Amino acid sequence: MAREYAVLDVIGELRRTHAAGDVGVELEGSEVILGGWVHRRRDHGGVIFVDLRDREGLVQVVFRPDASPEAHERAGELRHEYVILVRGVVMRRSEDTINPKMPTGEVEVEVTELRLLNRATPPPFPIEETVEADEQTRLRFRLHDLRRPPLQRALRLRHRLYQSVRRSLSDLDFIEIETPMLTKSTPEGARDFLVPSRLQPGEFYALPQSPQIMKQMLMIAGFDRYYQIVRCFRDEDQRADRQLEFTQIDLEMAFVGIEDVLTVLEEVTARGCREVADIELPRPFTRIAYADAMARYGSDRPDTRIQLELVNLTDVFRESGFRAFRAAVDDGGIVKCLPIHDAQKLSRGDVDRLESFVKKELGARGLAWIRVTEDGEWRSPIVKFFSEDEKAKVQKLTEARPGSLIFFQADKSAKVNGVLSRLRTDLGERLGRIDGREWDVLFVVDFPLFERDGDEKLTYTHQPFVAPVDEDVELLETDPEKVRGTHYDVVINGVELGSGSLRNHRSDVQRRIFEILGYSKQDTEACFGFLLNALDAGAPPHGGFAFGYDRFAMLLAGLDSLRDVIAFPKTQRGQDLLMDTPAPVEKEQLEALHLRVRLPRREDPSGE
Ligand code: AMO
Ligand code: AMP
Repeated sequence: MAREYAVLDVIGELRRTHAAGDVGVELEGSEVILGGWVHRRRDHGGVIFVDLRDREGLVQVVFRPDASPEAHERAGELRHEYVILVRGVVMRRSEDTINPKMPTGEVEVEVTELRLLNRATPPPFPIEETVEADEQTRLRFRLHDLRRPPLQRALRLRHRLYQSVRRSLSDLDFIEIETPMLTKSTPEGARDFLVPSRLQPGEFYALPQSPQIMKQMLMIAGFDRYYQIVRCFRDEDQRADRQLEFTQIDLEMAFVGIEDVLTVLEEVTARGCREVADIELPRPFTRIAYADAMARYGSDRPDTRIQLELVNLTDVFRESGFRAFRAAVDDGGIVKCLPIHDAQKLSRGDVDRLESFVKKELGARGLAWIRVTEDGEWRSPIVKFFSEDEKAKVQKLTEARPGSLIFFQADKSAKVNGVLSRLRTDLGERLGRIDGREWDVLFVVDFPLFERDGDEKLTYTHQPFVAPVDEDVELLETDPEKVRGTHYDVVINGVELGSGSLRNHRSDVQRRIFEILGYSKQDTEACFGFLLNALDAGAPPHGGFAFGYDRFAMLLAGLDSLRDVIAFPKTQRGQDLLMDTPAPVEKEQLEALHLRVRLPRREDPSGE
């Protein structure tokens, strides 16, 4: 087809024929056109060598004065990260110049034409596999960081995971539907990000913490089997496994029970692992009840590869003469311990450091311990307070023997479990108490519907929309604390990959739950009236799940931080250091939104 207008642009007629990282011996003698960044330049007595980098990797391109004097002369100008296009011929390298460390190390490209497309400022750190730079620097210079192989690999893995998930869910007959970003608050337990409305002065949208309510609406509207790979926003404290904005694979199904949802989750998870990272997960996934996980591991997302288990000693110390333990039990708390056998490696200094760590960082009251010496003697700051009977029971329940070290916690159950589960993972990893399995995949099931918020009112364990187990609906009237929920989690290697449940499809049950949670009739109508009306409009039984997409990618990439699988992540303080956000805005913008900023102290960025 003839072109009516010829547009002249900087790359002229040069179009890349191959990727730099793909050039191999099979191209020997062919002409190629490559584009990329100058990774390295070396000048060897008149011959200039450049490692040219693109997203597929590196190839050496050579500028010889006799091949093209013009290209050779211009190559003298090249610096790190300059952007170039080259035309040249692929040559096999002589035996002595082959570079076995480079996938393209058997060849080089002898350049006949060079086009310098752009100059570049010197990179803040080398574009290499590993860098010395701290994370702040890496985030500030994210462009350069993203050019490094680990991030290139991670984002491409992310891409493959999107494809795998879409294939799996599409094969399972799910349809992809987008839901609004400017929406109403959903109670997922975090603070909302609010967006002021210009058209409705004084009113706000909330960015979705998840599409929870919208997907329930879709079920009622008849879009059985919905999914979406969707951004969610939660204004919560940042940790390695949390970001202010993150991605979920959100799904929902109608006319289903728990087993139907779990079957889908197992398929999507296992297929993702296989297709993206060649990992075969053991199937069927192991199931563990919430109560069992808490009792044995002190956590609802245990890594069960770690072969250490907690022991409950509350009954042993109910009447104890040891004040600290007795007081905790009298106060409604519990006493548990973490026995570690063959713990000779842990020195007295280690124990002291652990005690100060749990006190300072985890808010523990103390860390009592017993060490059994090689000749069977019990060394401990607390054993002198134990009766013979208590000693015998502790011995029996913990199977203490020479070389054992036992750590104790007495406090409210959440604190005890929190501290001991942290010690369990830290010490388990440090002492190598990990069984040989690479992947530990669990369905955690049988969560209670409610939990006590301190000593006072009942609060929901996950969400107010979780349906009770059918047989327990009656208990909502008589003994709500005993009601089992239909919630389930998927946990991989100690990371909560995602969670879900069946939902209340009957408005009377949903109303009763709001009532138990202490919402007034008025609040219920104001916040959830539309949901209750929707349930009354013919809601089928439905349930679903949301995978944390970033966590899934992080696990598959074998990394420890979400920041390493997100292109432009936020820092712990919620900032994007590349774009320098959040940032003050113009006074006019605030006025248009009918807003005024009142800062707690110091200057007002709006200039008032
Ligand atoms: P939940 O709140 O458990 O459930 O979220 C589901 C999954 O999303 C991931 N996730 C996060 N990832 C990164 N940063 C965060 N701040 C963050 N918060 C959550 C986790 C988590 O398991 N609507 C329900 C799901 C449902 O019931 O269908 C929900 O959002 O991997
Ligand atoms: P105390 O009697 O307070 O000196 O404590 C004796 C030992 O018990 C110290 O090693 C404390 O760290 C430890 N300890 C005190 N209170 C608790 C508790 N609630 N749980 C576990 N250990 C404790």
